[in-house]
Amino acid sequence: MSTFYITTPIYYVNDIPHIGHAYTTIMADAITRFRQAEGHQTYFLTGTDEHGQKIEKSAEAQGITPKILADRVVERFKDLWRVLDIRYDRFIRTTDADHVAGVQHLFRKVLEKGDIYPGDYRGHYCVSCEGYVPETAPEAASGNKICADCGKETELLTERCYFFRLSAYEERLLCFYKDNPDFIRPASRMNEVVSFVKMGLKDLSITRSTVKWGVPVPDDPEQTIYVWFDALSNYITALGYPDATADFARFWPADLHVMAKDILRFHAVYWPAFLMAADLELPRKELIHGWWLKDEKKMSKSRGNVLDPHILLKYFPADAIRYFLMREAPIGADANFSHQGFITRINTELTNDWANLISRVGGMVSRYFSNRFPGQADYSAAEEELREDYLELENEVRSHFDAYAFNRGLERIMEYVNRLNRYIVESEPWKMAGQETLQPRLEAVLKTLVRAILSANALLAPVIPRSAARVREFFNHAGEGFGWKDPGEKFAVRDVEPLFPRVDPKQFFAEELQDSHPSPSPKEAQMNEKPQTPEGVISFDEFKKVRMVVARVVAAEKVEKTDKLLRLTVDTDSDTRTLVAGIAQYYTPEELVDRKIIIVANLQPATIRGIESRGMILAASDKDGRPYIPVIPEETPVGAIMR
Ligand code: MSP
Repeated sequence: MSTFYITTPIYYVNDIPHIGHAYTTIMADAITRFRQAEGHQTYFLTGTDEHGQKIEKSAEAQGITPKILADRVVERFKDLWRVLDIRYDRFIRTTDADHVAGVQHLFRKVLEKGDIYPGDYRGHYCVSCEGYVPETAPEAASGNKICADCGKETELLTERCYFFRLSAYEERLLCFYKDNPDFIRPASRMNEVVSFVKMGLKDLSITRSTVKWGVPVPDDPEQTIYVWFDALSNYITALGYPDATADFARFWPADLHVMAKDILRFHAVYWPAFLMAADLELPRKELIHGWWLKDEKKMSKSRGNVLDPHILLKYFPADAIRYFLMREAPIGADANFSHQGFITRINTELTNDWANLISRVGGMVSRYFSNRFPGQADYSAAEEELREDYLELENEVRSHFDAYAFNRGLERIMEYVNRLNRYIVESEPWKMAGQETLQPRLEAVLKTLVRAILSANALLAPVIPRSAARVREFFNHAGEGFGWKDPGEKFAVRDVEPLFPRVDPKQFFAEELQDSHPSPSPKEAQMNEKPQTPEGVISFDEFKKVRMVVARVVAAEKVEKTDKLLRLTVDTDSDTRTLVAGIAQYYTPEELVDRKIIIVANLQPATIRGIESRGMILAASDKDGRPYIPVIPEETPVGAIMR
């Protein structure tokens, strides 16, 4: 049996899983299931990338150890993968002991070979992206210390470290790309990689002395292995590397690494070079998909525009999310996530077209035949055509899936589903039902529909596995493979829960907005004209009652005989008023004078320590009650209203 080894990137644990991560992982899962249906023995790897400065800092900010942070976030990834029916073979964590040992082995091997050597590195380092600004980048040459990728400020660092002799692999990499033109899919990404390598490769610093949270360099514990050398190695350590008798022997080289374009260079340049240095085989293919955007920007935690799949999961089965993500975006292209688009797609294709077809056909089979086809079908050319169309469809869909063009494959399946719906209308089975002589025709029509549904269902199964199993259950059908299906001896129409119940967009928007506060598109806002306000939710009108105004602090002083209170005199443009605020332990009067703040201006006055306080200063508060007064852009006019 041929094997198929597929991986997702291992996700950072300073982020919680969102639609973007789900996209890659669902894609890898659908590919795995498709390969299984084709008869491959598969191994599907996913996991988490837990080392490095970013995680260290995130944990520090939360007052916990990096390991505790990782343990928590790992559970969230695993939970989501369970809910989304992701069937992985291993969930690797870079803190797993076997991974750590494997990385150290790889490091030592390349060191002994002479392709890792000690030296000094000086450069602008971006903590957020865990990388130095490349010296070839224009911003490095011009001395600009802003990271081009994330826009954050970089730090100038000099450190003793180990380098990987990447420069020695330039020619070999170019030869490899030439000999394996399909290595990167889509092809446009391959061109990007080749141009990058042709610009010249510099040796790569692959250890850090400044980062403590990482895999220690063997025999040099002051140094930790740079997160990308550590992370990329997961693809082999997960299989037991360096133990050549384990799964490693069976599954390496990987058949497919799946990822988004943001980490292409690491996978298409560094990773093959590391493997060449270790005399290991190179992965066969890398599939590079685009980004899911929200409001035209890449979904990411730092931008605060991520979509939590759990919100959709409150209304839709996991298969709806799986279907939408695979159906909507052409591989390689970016796609903007719209809730409206999501609901319309699911309600139209899965509910109206697919689920209704199944329940209509099932209903007619029970009504007209009490679940048993007598076996006297009288087929006409129309049914034969449906069968032939199906066989053609199967070929096409399989070749689309084979090329990972799920959107095109699914589009074709839906065309066929619509064709079946039309066929019902055209053949009018309800008119045959009462007529004795037409029973064989009626049987032929309904049996063909059942066969077509079961066959199309097998094609849909890699993408929507749970509902595909339900369809099989509905018709009491066991076979999972492809082909023109026969209902079989055990055929029966059974009672199952409706497949994709229609979701009311109005209800969805009312609740969805409550959960995630996205800025609705005009269309969404329109649908949301009359939101219901369940308990704990306020309407926009209620929100508008709170009058928040930008004010300038004109004077500030400590309230006598208290540690905590400051008396502020503020100018709101329409008046000058006094406020008492419990912030004296964190802000001095001097630093507040002249500063712009936001106050709740229409709060009922309260007398505190004999002073009438007319309003409240807005500040964020952490779990210990420490206030953080927001910074208002200097140009904001005093008196401006917050909304
Ligand atoms: N830890 C590294 C990967 C190491 S692999 C050896 C990393 N982690 S990550 O958490 O940032 O995940 C990046 C990957 O998550 C992307 O390559 C992509 O697969 C997925 N996505 C994250 N956000 C995404 C979108 N907005 N859209 C599509 N995919 C997204 O990089």
